[in-house]
Amino acid sequence: MKIFTTVKEVREAVGQLKSEGKTIGFVPTMGFLHQGHMSLVRESVQKTGSTVVSIFVNPIQFGPREDFKEYPRNLEQDSSLLENAGVGIVFVPDQEDMYPEGFRSYVEVRGLQDKLCGRSRPGHFRGVCTVVLKLLQIVDPDFAFFGQKDAQQALIIKRMVQDLNLNVAIEVLPIIREEDGLALSSRNSYLDSEERKAARCLFRSLQRAEMMIGEGERNPGRIIQGMKQIIHSEPLARMDYIEIVDLDNLDPLDKIEGDVLVALAVFIGKVRLIDNMILSLKE
Ligand code: PAJ
Repeated sequence: MKIFTTVKEVREAVGQLKSEGKTIGFVPTMGFLHQGHMSLVRESVQKTGSTVVSIFVNPIQFGPREDFKEYPRNLEQDSSLLENAGVGIVFVPDQEDMYPEGFRSYVEVRGLQDKLCGRSRPGHFRGVCTVVLKLLQIVDPDFAFFGQKDAQQALIIKRMVQDLNLNVAIEVLPIIREEDGLALSSRNSYLDSEERKAARCLFRSLQRAEMMIGEGERNPGRIIQGMKQIIHSEPLARMDYIEIVDLDNLDPLDKIEGDVLVALAVFIGKVRLIDNMILSLKE
């Protein structure tokens, strides 16, 4: 496994692999890898000839009062996980290399970027799309892998790839959870033991939505109410949003039918966590 820090080195190495006829898989990450990230890496290693993983805590997707500085980092541990998984190339760019002085170009996916998490994190998806487009241009993969954990991010990136005619197939893989249902996230490391217990309320509220729909409830307002009860009964939790939206355009639904996305963001203490579930209704 090779670790590169410059765009030039990655381009050359990928060019070499392609000239050998290898397909390239790409997994962009911000590091502090867990089994959620590794599920994407394993799929890529299995499916493609060579896998590139990027580790870059992207400053432009963090708001001024967000956790860019504190975001957990552990390159040594990440490298050994990736090496054992059979990754070919790890790209760990410098901030100056990605955003040199004079950098001025940004990508927006209008409409989709302003919904759900975009409302409480203005500019976040602009930062995500910009860095993902740059990384896709640098790595030039055949496949890129994303997690359903960040449902809105995955949808926005698929839209960007389609709108800008990027030559890459996007694969979105299921959410990996702890035994008690908490979705794995690098930010779970911020939680103390009380908060960690409280954090179960996100998945429990999704399970309540699933149960209510299973029992025939079709009114999103009542389902959201049921989910809110679970969040509100947890003293350490403060709701950011709970929404039931159309899977294609993220617009709130006034009736549950077909496939719907139930998504929420909740503060546990100071830590903002997100989770979601796709619920399919086959009448
Ligand atoms: P990061 O939060 O490090 O996540 C990298 C990838 O891992 C994303 O596609 C995310 O959806 C996926 N992932 C995270 N937790 C997961 C889980 N529990 N189960 C399955 N997949 C999971 O998302 C980002 O970084 C950044 O926004 C990035 C795309 C790298 C751009 O900076």
